Amino acid sequence: FAVESKKTCPFSTKSHVLINFDDPAFHENPELIFQKLRNTAPIQKIILDDGFPVWLISKFNDAIEVLRDHRFIKSPNSLRTSDTDPLKGKTNRASPAYILRRFHMLANDPPNHTRLRIFAQKAFTPKLITAMRPRIQQITNELIDKIQTDKKCDFIDDFAYQLPIIVIAELLGLPVEDREKLRNWSDVLIEVQVTEKNKQSIEESADAFINYLSNVFALRRKNPGNDLISAFLRLELAEDHLTENELYATIFLLIIAGHETTVNLISNGMHSLLSHPKQLNLLKNNPDLIHSAVEEMLRYNGPVINSTMRLAAEDILINGIKIKKGEGVLVIFLSANQDEAKFDDSLRFDITRQNNKHLAFGYGIHFCIGAPLARLECEIAIKTILERLPNIKFNPDADSLEWRASNIIRGLKKFPVVF
Ligand code: HEM
Repeated sequence: FAVESKKTCPFSTKSHVLINFDDPAFHENPELIFQKLRNTAPIQKIILDDGFPVWLISKFNDAIEVLRDHRFIKSPNSLRTSDTDPLKGKTNRASPAYILRRFHMLANDPPNHTRLRIFAQKAFTPKLITAMRPRIQQITNELIDKIQTDKKCDFIDDFAYQLPIIVIAELLGLPVEDREKLRNWSDVLIEVQVTEKNKQSIEESADAFINYLSNVFALRRKNPGNDLISAFLRLELAEDHLTENELYATIFLLIIAGHETTVNLISNGMHSLLSHPKQLNLLKNNPDLIHSAVEEMLRYNGPVINSTMRLAAEDILINGIKIKKGEGVLVIFLSANQDEAKFDDSLRFDITRQNNKHLAFGYGIHFCIGAPLARLECEIAIKTILERLPNIKFNPDADSLEWRASNIIRGLKKFPVVF
């Protein structure tokens, strides 16, 4: 999700509650700082390193208000033109990195957002995802086969990291051997801040990714399959088609939005279970609780910390606070999901929780389109691990666990387990 959010660390300047996402200590117990933020400065203005003012929204109801208000926009271009391509009609062409970062739905507002999203949803259907169930189960089993005999592994590197990238590569119809290549390109391309130093490597990766996809498109046009890219290309022939650049950006978004997020849902979810042995046993003895358990994993310690940036298209009042035209807004999903005003005993991990309407997948027009796939992968992964490796626990010989010092993804650096 760093695709187009600004660099937001450190979050400390001029704030009432100090938040520094660069500081590993913050990530040890973020819930305590978020609690303080909700109680003392629920709509708090901070100034980024480059002087840009951004409001942090930490309470559930305020988050909903912001996310459903169409006056908070994603693209400054929306104020000027209704066309996706702000360079259209001008002589200079968009750079490859600009295409990948700006031409997809998450960087756009209606009406373009609507067109891009409807297009993707026509191919990325619930039916397609349900049909993936047996294959996701098979990949999960194969990954467990590989680690089982060793009796220990790194839960992220050896398991949680692998499953989502194999699934999305297969869904798109990309050779699974290419996943390292895809990983390297996306690692470079989600670099948050473009500097003179990294600009060239970002452009080179974007160019290589677009060339790669254009070759895949040529092959699929000749030889269509049952995959998502073939479905997109078939749809492209229909009347309201996407431009080739919009197709590249859409596929790029599906790869990056769906990967690290799902990896960390599975691993944070397993971490929550191992940290709460009673809940772990409850799930082992009642596997049918898996659906409510996955929802609680998403709420309690979900993988996405903040929303992507929105901009106020005009002066807007939120809960009596004026956000001025042009200022930025970030919703802290993790905090909204722990809001005591919305969830009973909100800091408790309870896999039987009812009415668990959390914001882990966002809210409003940008609500995650990959939510059914992420839920399915997590459900199969956790259930199968508990069936096949029922004695899984933290590795007692390993160093203490460290959380990543990120302002976007909530996740562990390493997660050694034994079973
Ligand atoms: C949007 C979370 C998995 C594709 C979002 C947003 C969130 C989110 C919070 C909204 C961001 C905002 O409003 O600023 C998650 C989580 C996931 C996950 C927690 C896994 C646990 C996936 C997967 C895919 C995907 C597997 C696809 C393969 C997308 C897309 C959008 C999106 C395309 C943009 C929707 C739009 O702009 O209309 N996701 N996501 N996500 N997600 Fe996910």
